[in-house]
Amino acid sequence: MSTDPVNPRTRDLAHESLAADDPTGWFEQLYAEASEGRAEIPWDRGIAHAQLTDWVETARPDGTGKKAVVVGAGTGWDAELVADRGFVTTAFDISPTAIETAKQNHPGSKVNYLTADLFNLPPDWRRAFDLVVEIYTVQALPIPLQPSATEQISDLLAPGGTLLVIAVAREDDVPDSTIEGPPWPLKRAAIDAFEADDLKLVDLGRSPSPVDPSVYRWRAEYRRDSGE
Ligand SMILES: C[S@@+](CC[C@H](N)C(=O)[O-])C[C@H]1O[C@@H](n2cnc3c(N)ncnc32)[C@H](O)[C@@H]1O
Repeated sequence: MSTDPVNPRTRDLAHESLAADDPTGWFEQLYAEASEGRAEIPWDRGIAHAQLTDWVETARPDGTGKKAVVVGAGTGWDAELVADRGFVTTAFDISPTAIETAKQNHPGSKVNYLTADLFNLPPDWRRAFDLVVEIYTVQALPIPLQPSATEQISDLLAPGGTLLVIAVAREDDVPDSTIEGPPWPLKRAAIDAFEADDLKLVDLGRSPSPVDPSVYRWRAEYRRDSGE
């Protein structure tokens, strides 16, 4: 799901879920099996994503008095890094077991971990966050769901705020029909699709994965106009 190979159990659960027309049901099943030691979460790194860490060390954002949200936060490692920069941090995931595992992983955390569905978020989250972090959630959703997921994520960003997106890259000439996800990596057009209204791409990197140098990842940074 990340740049690591998707393990067979993950793929089986995902395919069963997709066949049952439940494209997100398999996440909870996988996290639940993992919590009982019966499966492994292929994207659970046990540390924050290296490209997020690199961005934090380079940009050194000061979160004092600011709010951040981590989308599809999984077991919480990225959210903890963001909270360490001083942001009042919300981290949500559709899987209750992922959220429970995040709480267990990070006792005493300042992060507000909660179960929520990207496609049904509280209305008062709209344009409410100064930093939005999205890592590998959109690519974990079937391609027809990706535009709506992208729109929901962009919509979380407050005026003057920063959106950071990390995703596996797909060459533009690779057709959707040839991708047997998950994941369904993002073409350049899918990266551009986060731009909406006054939200603009300000930095874009494309770099090889240290795990498999034949796989490239996007790191895209966007800013919403402050309106001033
Ligand atoms: C590939 S994993 C990536 C997790 C984490 N961002 C990371 O990089 O380790 C995708 C995550 O998105 C969550 N997710 C999938 N669909 C979601 C939705 N509709 N709303 C919220 N979270 C969702 C999954 O449960 C899973 O934790």
